[in-house]
Amino acid sequence: MSSIPTVYVPCDSSARAVGADEVAGAIAAESRRRGQPLHIVRNGSRGLTWLEPLVECATASGRIGFGPVRPEDVAALFDAGLPGPAAHPLAIGQLEELPYLKSQQRLTFARIGITDPRSVDDYLAHEGFAGLRRALSMAPEAIVKDVIDSGLRGRGGAAFPTGIKWQTAMRAAARPKYVVCNADEGDSGTFADRLIMESDPLVLIEGMTIAGLAIGAEMGYIYVRSEYPDSVLALKEAIQAARAAGYLGSDLLGSGRRFELEVRMGAGSYVCGEETAMLESLEGRRGIVRAKPPLPAINGLFGQPTAINNVVTLATIPIILARGASFYRDFGVGRSRGTLTVQLAGNVRHGGLIEVAFGVTLRELLDQWAGGTASARPVRAIQVGGPLGTYVPPSHWDTPLDYEAYAKFGGVVGHGSVVVHDDTVNLAKMARFAMHFCALESCGKCTPCRIGAVRGVEVMDKIIAGQDTERQIGLLRDLCDTMVNGSLCAMGGMTPYPVISALNHYPEDFQKGTDHAGRRSTQKPAAVA
Ligand SMILES: Cc1cc2nc3c(=O)[nH]c(=O)nc-3n(C[C@H](O)[C@H](O)[C@H](O)COP(=O)(O)O)c2cc1C
Ligand code: SF4
Repeated sequence: MSSIPTVYVPCDSSARAVGADEVAGAIAAESRRRGQPLHIVRNGSRGLTWLEPLVECATASGRIGFGPVRPEDVAALFDAGLPGPAAHPLAIGQLEELPYLKSQQRLTFARIGITDPRSVDDYLAHEGFAGLRRALSMAPEAIVKDVIDSGLRGRGGAAFPTGIKWQTAMRAAARPKYVVCNADEGDSGTFADRLIMESDPLVLIEGMTIAGLAIGAEMGYIYVRSEYPDSVLALKEAIQAARAAGYLGSDLLGSGRRFELEVRMGAGSYVCGEETAMLESLEGRRGIVRAKPPLPAINGLFGQPTAINNVVTLATIPIILARGASFYRDFGVGRSRGTLTVQLAGNVRHGGLIEVAFGVTLRELLDQWAGGTASARPVRAIQVGGPLGTYVPPSHWDTPLDYEAYAKFGGVVGHGSVVVHDDTVNLAKMARFAMHFCALESCGKCTPCRIGAVRGVEVMDKIIAGQDTERQIGLLRDLCDTMVNGSLCAMGGMTPYPVISALNHYPEDFQKGTDHAGRRSTQKPAAVA
């Protein structure tokens, strides 16, 4: 083992956005200046966003961290002892002992922030490709059975059982077949897919290859949103490395089986995350939703059988194959098995990625992880499940995050985004935002969504202006009913969710003369909590 100390500086876009490249450069320059050689590894982010750039040093007793580090902190950190334990205000001790991480159950995200995303050797040293090795020795039916038995449901939003989808594609007779990874990640407050692609892309490659073996596909596509150029680069590098090491290509680990992958970039449209609009876009056309049936599993990309799954779904496959279906299904509650990837965002001090077994509550997320609001004001509303998710009021903050428990009160878990708002939020304005978002992003194929969203904005404007409020609220409820029941896809069908939840739980915000949080516009905001 090399005696040169190792220092880790994340290379994912959330760390780079707050100066990680400059910090890595400053550390390299300082080590040269002091004649103190260092091995700098650009790991991925651990998902503790408020600590980025988070610098870690390998020590005999584990990895210790410092964060958030700015380039101008680097010389003082060296003076204090970096790359060893350093008494410095930015020191946060051993990473594995941080309560934020220690209280999580990281299965899908076990390697993020730990390994070098580009290194196949590092991946192998951390249980990488164990699932693929096992899958290569199994019949397709046995792989599909493992996935069904694990209880895994799609993490892209609809929570459809993954094994059942794969079974349909496996049984389809037509050839060729395809695996498509949905990496459009358009939901507000979400970043789990991005973290996988930039911090542990090999796990996605492994999951897609196993999907190919299961359904009989030899080609896969990863559809990445254009706003994620770092993800595209990380994936391309990882695909090349996996191919060079025999984990992709025409002879997977000498088995004679083949699987290839290509990365495709979207063009920045929310509705292209809807799976059939994504297929249109992948085929080179405008992203317009297709009517279902036929199901993509039978008639998908280029009219062929296609398994479409979200990044997190596919990245969860390797651990299921490596450790077994029962290992995975032992986590979770009810029919929501395994772990949920919470992306804690919005007005919180400690935003980040939290992977825990299904069943955690919003109150636990607030109390154990969020560290209060960034504004230091009380929390008023929490939107769960993206821009089409409901605003969850305090009366449901103790409801376990589980697909069925949320559906019971009209909520959605979706892709796991949890966006926190303090007591200055105005839910009428947020309801208008939902309608406006839908009007901008609607693909235009069906009337309830295309026209309904535009009318929804007009009605919301009248309500906010206090014009004929009660009648307009009645119209708004009617309109929401039409959109829920008459839209072709969940874009128009779910836009009313945030609107109706705002109306039901925060009716005071829709009354004439209120500014925010249902206060009369002449009233001063409550004192800071
Ligand atoms: C408007 C709209 C946007 C969507 N955006 C995404 C997305 O960005 N990523 C995603 O995985 N699924 C998205 N979905 C869900 C997909 O249609 C599909 O259910 C999912 O990709 C299937 O993968 P899963 O079974 O692994 O969840 C969206 C659905 C709708 C209606
Ligand atoms: S609901 Fe909206 S996005 Fe979906 S098909 Fe209709 S117009 Fe297109």
